[in-house]
Formats: sequence, C-alpha cells, structure tokens
Amino acid sequence: MRLFVIALGVSVASALVPKPPGIPLVEVPGHLHENARLLALPPYDMTYYFDQLIDHDDPSKGTFKQRYWHTAEFYQQGGPIIFMNAGEVNAAPYYGYILNVTINGVVAQKYGGAAIVLEHRFFGLSNPYPNLNTESLELLTIHQSIEDDVYFAKNVVLPQANGDQLGPDKVPWILFGGSYPGALVSWTMVAHPDVFWIGYASSAVVQADIDFWRYYEPMRLNMPQNCSADVEAVVAYVDEVMTGSDVEAQIALRTSFGFGGSTNVDFAGALRWDLWLWQDLQPNTGPGGAFYRFCDDLEVNSNGVSASADGFGLNHTLTAWANRFKATAAAKREFEPTKDLEARADIPVDDPNRSWTWIVCNELGSSLVGPPLGEIAVVSRLVTWQDNMRGCVTTFPEAFSTFPIPDVAAFNTKYQGWNVTLDRLFFANGKRDPWKEMTVSAVLSPAVSTDRQPIGLSNGFHASDLVMQLAAPDPTIVAVQDSFIQYVETWLTEWPSASN
Ligand SMILES: *[C@@H]1O[C@H](CO)[C@@H](O)[C@H](O)[C@H]1NC(C)=O
Ligand SMILES: *[C@@H]1O[C@H](CO)[C@@H](O)[C@H](O)[C@H]1NC(C)=O
Ligand SMILES: *[C@@H]1O[C@H](CO)[C@@H](O)[C@H](O)[C@H]1NC(C)=O
Ligand SMILES: *[C@@H]1O[C@H](CO)[C@@H](O)[C@H](O)[C@H]1NC(C)=O
Ligand SMILES: *[C@@H]1O[C@H](CO)[C@@H](O)[C@H](O)[C@H]1NC(C)=O
Repeated sequence: MRLFVIALGVSVASALVPKPPGIPLVEVPGHLHENARLLALPPYDMTYYFDQLIDHDDPSKGTFKQRYWHTAEFYQQGGPIIFMNAGEVNAAPYYGYILNVTINGVVAQKYGGAAIVLEHRFFGLSNPYPNLNTESLELLTIHQSIEDDVYFAKNVVLPQANGDQLGPDKVPWILFGGSYPGALVSWTMVAHPDVFWIGYASSAVVQADIDFWRYYEPMRLNMPQNCSADVEAVVAYVDEVMTGSDVEAQIALRTSFGFGGSTNVDFAGALRWDLWLWQDLQPNTGPGGAFYRFCDDLEVNSNGVSASADGFGLNHTLTAWANRFKATAAAKREFEPTKDLEARADIPVDDPNRSWTWIVCNELGSSLVGPPLGEIAVVSRLVTWQDNMRGCVTTFPEAFSTFPIPDVAAFNTKYQGWNVTLDRLFFANGKRDPWKEMTVSAVLSPAVSTDRQPIGLSNGFHASDLVMQLAAPDPTIVAVQDSFIQYVETWLTEWPSASN
C-alpha cells in the first residue's frame, strides 16, 4: 500500500502525499518473455479488458473497461484461479504478479492454476468515467472495489479454454493482496465469505486509524541505534523551539534547513520525508538504500568515522541533517497530488496520488503523525492528524470545506479490522514493516494465529513475502511463504469437488 499521508495546508512544501505504500514492483526477467514466445503463449504483459459495473448499487449506470493481466500457462483442469487486485497503482507495470517471480505465480505453477492481476477502479486506465473529477470519484469507495473483485470473479470469461466455466462456484479462487489490497483480501472475505476459497493477505492494513503515529514504531525499534538516538534528539529540540516563544530562534532553525519561508508546522512535517524512506527498504536493499544513506549523512562525520550507538548528539546532527535536507528536499516536493485548481477543467485520469488521497480523505485517514506525549518521537508532535486531513480541503476544495474525519470506527466494525475470524485466510506480516501496527500482528491487535486463519510473522519489511527475490535473502520470510504453500495444499483438498 501506498498508503498515506496527505497534504498539510496551502503552502507548496506541505501539500504533499508521501509515496503511498503499495505492493513492490517486480521485475520480469527476459527469459520468461522468451519462454512465452517459444511456447506461443500470449505475451505476459498483454492487456485484457473486463466490463465492470460502474456502480454496484445501481447497475443501470452501465459498465466500464477494467484492465487485467492473465496467464493460463500452467492451468490444469479444475485448478485454482489466482487473483489479485493491484491496488493504488497503475497496474500495467505489475503484471509480474501473474508469474513465478511472485508467490502468486509460484502457487499458480505448483497447483495448476491460472493467474490474474486486476487494476483497481480509478487507478491507471481503469476508470468508470474519463476523468478524476470529484463527482466521478464519488464511486471510488472501498465498498465498490470489493464488489469489483466479486463481480469480476463471478462474471469474467477468462481468455483460456473453457474460460466461461471457471467461476468461483466451479473452481477454487485464491485471493491475493499486499498492503491496501492485502486488507482488501480480508475485507472482501468478510463482506462475501462464500466467493474466495482461500485468501493470502500480506502486510494487510486491516484496522483503519486516522491518527496513525505507530507507523514509526517498527522503524524506531529497528533502525541503527545511533541514527534513532540522534533523530530523537533533533526532533525533541525542534519541538521545544517551535512550541516556545522565541520567534527569531524558530526562523533561524527553519532557515538552516532551507525552510525559512514556511510555517513551523510545515517545516516540522517536512522532517518526516527522510523517515518515510524506510518504507522502500527490502531484505535485498544494500547499504546504499536511501534510508541508510540518510543515517550515514547523520552518523558518519567528515573524517569518515561513524558514531557509537549513542550517536553524535544534537549539535552535530542538527548541522548534518540541515545540510542534507537543503541538498535533497527540493526533489521531494514532487509528491504532490493534482489539485482542482481549475474547477471546470476535467482532471486527467491515471493520477494514483489523487485517487489514493480520495480514499484516505473519505475512508482510511492514516495520518502519519508524531506520537502523543510520553512516547518516544522520531517525528515532530507539531503536526497533528487534523493538519494532515486539512490537505483534503486543499486537494478537493469542492468536496470538503473543512477537514474530513473518516468514520474509521464504523469502518472497522463493518469490516472487522483486527477482530476478523475467517476460514482459510492466511496473514503474512513483517516485523520491520512500517504498516505493521495496522495489521493483525500489531502490538495492540487481539488476533491469534490458528490453523484456520494463520498469521505468519517474519522479519520482513512491507509485503516482502509477495516477491520471491525480496523474500529469498531472509529465511524467516521464506518460512512464511512455505507455510502458506503447505496450507494451500491442505485447503485445496477441502474444496468440495476435490474428492470427486
Ligand atoms: C505521485 O507520487 C509519486 C511519489 O510517490 C511521484 O513519483 C509521482 O510523480 C506522483 N505522481 C503524480 C501524478 O503527481
Ligand atoms: C519459474 O518457472 C520456470 C519455468 O517456467 C522455472 O524454470 C523456474 O524454476 C520457476 N521458478 C520458481 C521460483 O519456481
Ligand atoms: C552507526 O551509524 C553507521 C552509519 O550509518 C552505521 O553503519 C552503524 O551501523 C551505526 N551503529 C550503531 C551501533 O548504531
Ligand atoms: C557544534 O557544531 C558546530 C558545527 O558542527 C561546531 O563548529 C561547534 O564547535 C559545535 N559546538 C559544540 C559546543 O560542540
Ligand atoms: C473487537 O472486539 C473487541 C472485544 O469484543 C471489541 O471491544 C472491539 O470493539 C472490536 N473491534 C472492532 C473493530 O469491531
């Protein structure tokens, strides 16, 4: 998931969504394409189109073309259909999820299944209406997306032999997803327990929360100690100065970071950018990974000596972070969702940041803000979830006149959040995933692992277990994948016609 912080206010610097979480992009090696060519299979990146209902609550509105990718390379009669909604991205580059470079494809190959990736409504080129105007976005809801998956499964005629005889009443469908689509797996199975036979929910952010300060806990606990010690020192100092009365000191501090013209809150919010780099880490990220370079900038001095576990302390780190920030911050200002600046012009499609922001503003919240007093902070407490939600007014002025407060309590009751208990649903989570505290493996989650709804917790990052190459370096992730494959083996034998 590309989940989610939204814009702060009206100033350019603060009107930023962070990279939404999302599933990892996976590379498809050339030999797989060559293989498809030699076998005269359709190219793996061939786009198919499904006539999806524009509005599941009013089928009279008609249909739109929803894109998907598919392969039946390993299909054997009666085999499962491996199905994933790609979530908050243009899905075209994600067709690798039908191939065995992912856990989806490995299961398809091993159990004689076909594999499908579906593009989420209002992302990429799968749009009910040819624009992302707010009137169109009224149909971008999690309810509609769940119904898309169900309607697709029940109605698609797959581009393979007997493609009209492969519905979820005839063969077992296995619903996959990671991050937001991982949560969609759980929410869809709650809403429709009788459609998908098996679910695989990776880094599934099932429990919605507006004030999601715990996003930073997995990184605080797992980042290099010198780096966390120094980041904590700088953040504490920033909050002390910014909540004090010395305006000159505030201006001087902002100016040293190149944010002299911003507000205190915008400046404090921008300091999160470097922490958000953690979300890009994977087990195969080398020491050159962006987050590690951030720590190096703070923790290696001009003589090439790195700090002990205690860090270099506030004085050194303030200067080091300010210098780094001035050099890199400009590049980050591009994380900006398109705004309705010209109210009458149609807003172009294929703007995942805008569509994602809509979901965040209306249903999920997920503000990545600082912790309450009494908790250790690696980001400033100055930015509140209300500040974050104010970005909704900036991005969608005709929809929100004041900051929205998504009813996450009602949402969690409806889709059961951490309380979910279903049959044949496998959760895969990572201890170093920043979104972990929204998953069933959260410290506060009451969920327990059972044989009917197992929870695999590895040492992985965000959705690491979906991609074979990301999982491979870490035996704890491989073990979670292997465990799931064992469950699939058992659960497929429970399919009613399996014994016929
Ligand atoms: C959306 O945000 C990403 C960074 O997460 C950025 O690379 C991209 O350019 C943005 N897209 C648009 C259309 O603003
Ligand atoms: C993927 O499939 C190819 C054959 O199509 C096979 O050579 C390769 O070993 C498979 N990889 C995995 C991880 O199963
Ligand atoms: C200190 O920082 C360096 C540079 O980022 C890092 O390589 C090292 O692991 C850190 N050591 C500790 C004990 O945190
Ligand atoms: C604080 O840091 C600056 C620049 O790194 C250095 O010149 C100065 O001596 C330091 N002051 C103290 C008290 O350590
Ligand atoms: C989960 O169950 C607990 C205990 O019954 C309850 O207090 C809580 O409100 C439930 N949460 C949701 C999201 O339904």
